[in-house]
Order: sequence, then C-alpha cells, then structure tokens
Amino acid sequence: MNPSKIVVSGMRPTGKLHLGHYFGVLKNWLELQNQYRCFFFIADWHALTTEYQDPKILRQACRDILLDWLAAGLDPKRCTIFLQSRVPEHAELHLLLSMLTPISWLERVPSYKELKNELKDRDLSTYGFLGYPLLQTADVAIYNAHLVPVGQDQVAHLELSREVLRRFNHLYGETFVEPQPLLTPSPKVPGLDGRKMSKSYGNAIYLSDDEAAVRKKMGDAVTDPARIRKSDPGNPDICNVFDYHRLFSPPELVSRVNLQCRAAEIGCVEDKKLATENLLAFLRPIQERRRALEADPKRLEEILEAGAAEARKIAQGHLKRVYERMGLC
Ligand code: TRP
Repeated sequence: MNPSKIVVSGMRPTGKLHLGHYFGVLKNWLELQNQYRCFFFIADWHALTTEYQDPKILRQACRDILLDWLAAGLDPKRCTIFLQSRVPEHAELHLLLSMLTPISWLERVPSYKELKNELKDRDLSTYGFLGYPLLQTADVAIYNAHLVPVGQDQVAHLELSREVLRRFNHLYGETFVEPQPLLTPSPKVPGLDGRKMSKSYGNAIYLSDDEAAVRKKMGDAVTDPARIRKSDPGNPDICNVFDYHRLFSPPELVSRVNLQCRAAEIGCVEDKKLATENLLAFLRPIQERRRALEADPKRLEEILEAGAAEARKIAQGHLKRVYERMGLC
C-alpha cells in the first residue's frame, strides 16, 4: 500500500455496467483500492454536459452505477466513493481554472469536435460541454492526483489537464501535481456478436443480468462463423465464446475446449453451456451483494454521505491554498 500516491477516477452514470466495463475499468479499480489512496466518483455533472435535456434518467443511473461498483467489490473502507455533485469544491476549482484556460485549448481537444458532430440529435454548442475536460481537470486536481486510471480515449483530456495546471503553477507558484494517465492493459471482452461490447450495440451482458437473461443471451451468441456443422473443425481464435472461456473458465477447461473445438469433438451448443455455467458462477456473488444492497437504501445513502464528507475535507484544504495563491481570501 502506498498511501502517498493519490489515484482519482470517475465514471459518467450512463446506466448499468456490463462485462466490458468490469474487465476494462472496475477490475483495475479493485486492485488500485488496495494499493493507493483512491477517490472514485460518479461524474453526474459530466453526464449533464450531454444529457441536460433529460433529468429523469440521471437519478436512476447514479443509483445503478453505485450498486454495480459496490457489488463488484469496490469497498468504501478502502477507497472514497462519492457523487461529484455533492462535492461542490470540484465546481469551485473549475471556475477558478476557467480564468486562466484559453478557449482555444478546449476547442482543440479532439473529442470536442468529434462528439459534437456525432451527437447531432442535441445541441452541444454549450459552455458546459466545451468545459468538459476542464471540469475533469478540476476533478483530479482538487485532490492533487498523481495517477488517473482511464482508457486511451481520455488521454487527450489529461494532456489538457497538465497544460492548465502547469500554467497555474507558472502563474501562482508550484501548487498542483501534474496528473498522469494510468493505462492498464485489459483482456478482450467482445460483445455477443463479436463487436466491442457496448450498450448501444445491444450486445452486452450486464453485471445485473439474471440467470435466465444470461442463458438466453449466451444461447444467441455468435461463435466461429465458419463453423456451420458440428463436424466442422472450429477456430477458437475467432470465437467470442472462447474469449468468455478465457475470462471465466478454469484453465483445464480452456485448454480442453480449445483442443476439442479444433478437432470437432465438441459442438458450439455444448461449448456455450460450459462457458455459460462459468460466467454465471462469476456473476453470482456480485449479484448477491447487489441484491443485499438494493434492499438497504439507507446503507447506500450512508456510503454516499460519508464519501462526500471525506472528499470535501481534503478538497477544502486544497482549495484554500488555491484561493490564497490567486489572491482571494
Ligand atoms: N471523462 C471520463 C469518461 O468519460 C469520466 C471522468 C470525469 C473522469 N471526470 C474524471 C475520469 C476524472 C477520470 C478522472 O470516462
């Protein structure tokens, strides 16, 4: 455990988490909470930058993501878990940083133009959307984060963060650490159709899917497309179900299935059944924890309250220094 290194990361509440989120992000957080001083928050303000027209979905999405985090094993005793909007210091620092951030730096961030073009159904020529990466900068800088576990798509945001914080340090004296992205390799988690697992493709298995749903989805999953009859030898290298074996099945079974599939000694139906049982065994403890938490909304509220209180204590200390440096008192 290295408590002197600060790790901060957030997720936008976009709905229930699936296996892609688990292996791509959460699994890594579960390890980090044992290694560093970690802050993990639900980025509800960031969600509003694109979903501001529909406030109904946000509350449920925040609850769902919290349940998924805790069910997966994120432990409020080992890390600080909170809702971004309950720590107003993030917004205060965002405002202060906006004073010294040139608009051109924000317009240059690649995701700005890309997303604005992609999400044509809504008006994203807003102040809040342009400021997205600056709010993200405040999110990490308010705790003086060293490391920010994120995906490759967020690296440009952190680059902006370092530029802005460097500018601050240059103007007012050394105050902020320059945060670095922590890019951890993650295993391949294809969706049921072989494309990347994604809510928008409708090919995801959710951590909260019940047994019947998982069985149905796995039954419909695509396997090696060239293997039409059971007597055709298969190729596990291009089969999603084999990727699930790699993730969930014991090593002996993975090697047995690998050989038997190539030799046409096991059919896709039986093979999927084996993968499904192991996937269900992985999901079972997660879902038991989820059910227990769902039945205890008071506990969820306590976790969020304690998390925000802890986060605010630290954020307020740092913010005080920023106020002083900028000539405010
Ligand atoms: N932009 C991040 C994403 O979409 C979410 C996020 C918001 C974040 N604030 C953050 C991630 C601070 C890391 C640190 O995934």
